Amino acid sequence: MTKSGSGKDGHPVVRVLFVCLGNICRSPMAEGVFRHLVQQAGLEDRIRTDSAGTHAYHVGEPPDKRACAAVRGRGIDISDLRGRRATPADLATFDYVLAMDRENLANLQAIATPDVAGKIRLFMEYASDRKMDEVPDPYFGGAAGFEQVLHMIENAAAGLLADIRSRYRLDT
Ligand code: 4NP
Repeated sequence: MTKSGSGKDGHPVVRVLFVCLGNICRSPMAEGVFRHLVQQAGLEDRIRTDSAGTHAYHVGEPPDKRACAAVRGRGIDISDLRGRRATPADLATFDYVLAMDRENLANLQAIATPDVAGKIRLFMEYASDRKMDEVPDPYFGGAAGFEQVLHMIENAAAGLLADIRSRYRLDT
């Protein structure tokens, strides 16, 4: 178990960072879907979420309209999120650093020190449906690509929450 901060009641807080390239499509969708699951489970005081990109193309921008529309279809609002770039400090702060694909995994590993490298994983490691182990980049495609990405994210997010609940004994 990695080092965690404490919440206001003294319980450990688990910090989860989702990472893609631009931080406007996949990782904000993953953050929104996972944040929604955490809220439904009543665990928002115990699990904190964030997302970032490994490039700076879209820093300060809201998520892509197609990403917003896809998650809105599930009753999830991600319009509050803004693009930012992942930093070496993130790798120290977060307990889970989850890359959407191998390109971003490698980008993160390139800024990681050996003590934090073990927290950087492919997000799809947590999926029960493992037909694909990378979340494909939907940016240059259409709405169907965003829907495919959303399905993959929903599957992996459920597995991730189960993993955190069991590792940190979060029963609520
Ligand atoms: P994301 O998608 O990594 O899922 O946010 C992309 C967004 C922007 C670009 C590439 C991928 N881009 O080249 O600007």
